[in-house]
Amino acid sequence: MTRIAIDPITRIGGHLRIEVEVSNGVVTDAWSSGTMFRGMELILKGRDPRDAWLLAQRICGTCNGVHALASVRAVENALGVAIPRNARLVRNILAGTQFVQDHVTSFYHRHALDWVDLVAATTADPEATAELARSISDRGPSGALTFRAAKERWTAYVGSGQPMALANAYWGSPAYELTPEADLMVAAHYLEALDWRRRMTQLQTFLSGKSPHPQTFLVGGMALVPPWGGPERPAAKEHPRQVVRSSPAALSERGLEDMADLIAEAKAFVEQVYLPDVLEIAGTYREWAAIGKGIGSYLAYGEFPEDDSSEPELLLPRGRIMNHDVARVETVDQVGVAETVAHSYYSSDDDAALVHPWDGQTVPKYAGPSAPVTSLEGSSKYSWAKAPRYQDDPMEVGPLARMLVGYIGDRAVVRSKLAEAIGTLRIGPDALMSTLGRTVARAVEAQVVVDRLDGWLQELTDNLATGDLGLADLSAWDPGSWPSEARGWSFGESPRGAVGHWLTIGDRRIEDYQLVDGSTWNCSPRDARGRRGAMEEALVGTPVNDPDEPVEILRTVHSFDPCTACAVHAFDPRGAGSIVIGIVEKGSR
Ligand code: NI
Ligand code: MG
Repeated sequence: MTRIAIDPITRIGGHLRIEVEVSNGVVTDAWSSGTMFRGMELILKGRDPRDAWLLAQRICGTCNGVHALASVRAVENALGVAIPRNARLVRNILAGTQFVQDHVTSFYHRHALDWVDLVAATTADPEATAELARSISDRGPSGALTFRAAKERWTAYVGSGQPMALANAYWGSPAYELTPEADLMVAAHYLEALDWRRRMTQLQTFLSGKSPHPQTFLVGGMALVPPWGGPERPAAKEHPRQVVRSSPAALSERGLEDMADLIAEAKAFVEQVYLPDVLEIAGTYREWAAIGKGIGSYLAYGEFPEDDSSEPELLLPRGRIMNHDVARVETVDQVGVAETVAHSYYSSDDDAALVHPWDGQTVPKYAGPSAPVTSLEGSSKYSWAKAPRYQDDPMEVGPLARMLVGYIGDRAVVRSKLAEAIGTLRIGPDALMSTLGRTVARAVEAQVVVDRLDGWLQELTDNLATGDLGLADLSAWDPGSWPSEARGWSFGESPRGAVGHWLTIGDRRIEDYQLVDGSTWNCSPRDARGRRGAMEEALVGTPVNDPDEPVEILRTVHSFDPCTACAVHAFDPRGAGSIVIGIVEKGSR
């Protein structure tokens, strides 16, 4: 038996260590360890609840705005505030844009390199690559010129002697199965996606002022300037020595038009580049539909409210699926969520207990080995991430959970897009419960969400045109109007999975704050009953052909697109990439 530690795992958010035991070329056990303490929940204590979103979102710049939205909703829930229609639509556009840009980035700049050999791409024939690209997408001319230019850029990069992002990878491993032409096609789109992402950032900053970390949220709505309705608009001050250049205001006629153009660009890239590339790769690596199955229980809080009621219909519905049972979606309620610190670096009255976030505490207490760590073996506590459970069960969250809940729950838009993708791949819906399935589900979800963005923008434009210019309900803005004690919660989704925030307010200040991120679920360590978290469970059964080049482990880990910065809320300074820092031999071979 061989024990492998990969620390740090790169191409993720935050700091993650993975340890696995390998027997006869297959992972037989796994440990997921969040190696960095953040303490965001402690930072929020004692603050004005109206400031919470601004601080909470600093958890992460990858999960841009995710915790701002979750936090402002939890405070609004505590204070009983309903936001206006315009604010709901703006929040949907912001969160939806984040889903789309994050999923594309997750694929091209993080996960694709587990499937695509960038060094082999430099040997491809650009003509044949153009032919391949034309055969899988109706994008219009994908000329050999484009791919020749991309080949030249990657060749220069590989030959530069400073390969940076390319260092410490497993190029040339027999685990890479694509043709050099398929490698070059995705490598070219990797470069294009960088530029595309800049445009998506532009779209976000229209509505958020800044990206990452939006600045326009407000308890009660959004702090945006409504379009001017009357003749009372003040004359612009003259600055004779200064030429002021600025973007149009987001909600002006020009601003709304510019956003529509950017949304069209988002949609074109997802439909004509991202999804076809994922399906092409998935077609080659179809055996990965039988690997990384995981716990088979999926949780979705749901996201994107489609109406202004207190229990709105959601574009991506709420629910859970248990034990691979694709016949049934169960209802989900926030009271079912609890966390244990049985195997986490925290102290509590009873480490084994499952505690609802309203009663949760964050008392850090490191109990692991001293650095440098070659193995977590023998440490019963091994992660800064707590272990969330739903009604005592470990759950997987994320795009696959949301797509399965939507598919089985018969949400037409999810059903048709997912059916199309699995039809192309000639696999059944249960084959989605796999490493490959997570990657495909993420691309399908990007398509579902990007398709809805222009609808929300149109509804916003139409609503403003009726003269309804309301963007915030400030009725709860005066702390004097608050009850002396209040508590609130919110359920929502980040690109990586279900996000919940819980807080209690006393004497106009935050008394306690607990949040459980999507990656806290997926990167969860074991619970008091010894049951593994979602990623740990998915790693069991993953093949490892060469323990010195465990690219297969990265495939399953990256299929979750983990963000440990968010999950945890120390690392080996010798590590310069995804490198194996310790192979511990156990027993006889
Ligand atoms: Ni994050
Ligand atoms: Mg937490």
